[in-house]
Amino acid sequence: MTSDFRTPALDALAAKIIPGQHFEFSAATARDRFFNDTRMLDVKQWVHNAFRTNPTSMLGHMLDNLALTGTEDLLDLGCGNGFILGDLRPHLADGSITGLDIAPAVLEAAQQRLHGTATPCTWIEGSADDLSMLGDDTFDRVMANYMIHYVPDLDRCFTEVRRVMRPGGIFQLTTDRTDSMLEMYDVHFTALKAMSAPQDLFKASPKGRLSLTNGGDLLGRHFERVDTVTWQDQLRFTDPEPFMRFYEVGHNHCCASSEEDERLTGDFFAELRDRVRAQVTEAIDTRGYFAVTKYTGSFLCR
Ligand SMILES: C[S@@+](CC[C@H](N)C(=O)[O-])C[C@H]1O[C@@H](n2cnc3c(N)ncnc32)[C@H](O)[C@@H]1O
Repeated sequence: MTSDFRTPALDALAAKIIPGQHFEFSAATARDRFFNDTRMLDVKQWVHNAFRTNPTSMLGHMLDNLALTGTEDLLDLGCGNGFILGDLRPHLADGSITGLDIAPAVLEAAQQRLHGTATPCTWIEGSADDLSMLGDDTFDRVMANYMIHYVPDLDRCFTEVRRVMRPGGIFQLTTDRTDSMLEMYDVHFTALKAMSAPQDLFKASPKGRLSLTNGGDLLGRHFERVDTVTWQDQLRFTDPEPFMRFYEVGHNHCCASSEEDERLTGDFFAELRDRVRAQVTEAIDTRGYFAVTKYTGSFLCR
């Protein structure tokens, strides 16, 4: 079954509303603000799974990508709370897992999730652009899923991945298109506009730094072969509240409150949420559900 949610109307909406400029965040912001606990990851992972309409899960796509035989040594850069590793582990029964993350709180959660399983696991607190603690030709698979936009030095990161990966290995880098989840950006920007919000809040997802659209060129400088695998999904909500939890937690209102900003008060965000909720409720009343279309995928580098 194909899951193609793209329509001319969605393409036209994307062209109209997704800004060319994207937000940028440092690894320190990731460590100290977004991932100092597992809340953001827990809510996002729950919503992406519970409200999807593509019958193939993200893990299903990754299993196709990674072609595991069960004996591979796998390195996961920015492993977060181990959500993906927990599901991959049975496919690595005679292999090993190394999870690296800059944020101790989520790394601890990953460690807890895989505790007591038979696949040997190693956990490293660090940044994906410094793999100096790892030897040359050590891993058969390396992954960087939905995290590369935080890494300070991308060239150094990819040089290091090349070094630690064995010949014949696969590096899977998963990211989004900048128009992914455009219906969420639509209700968000519509609300911001109605509130005459500062212009610098109108920016695309930080994944614009290395998106499915622009990432191939950079990766092509480091790897002999780069293939792109894409898939779509559509989250559908018939109750505004799960969407609102997702909207608030994901980079805090589409990045609007991701950094300290004295212009933006608690009242500002309360009004923003009310305006977003009203649009989502209206869509549900009119159409039966509120849809959020995802354009995502992986670069497979060899
Ligand atoms: C959106 S989460 C993705 C987690 C996991 N890969 C997944 O897909 O479920 C991004 C993760 O990257 C981590 N991170 C951010 N900057 C990093 C860096 N420079 N090096 C390693 N990990 C980093 C964060 O702490 C967070 O756990």
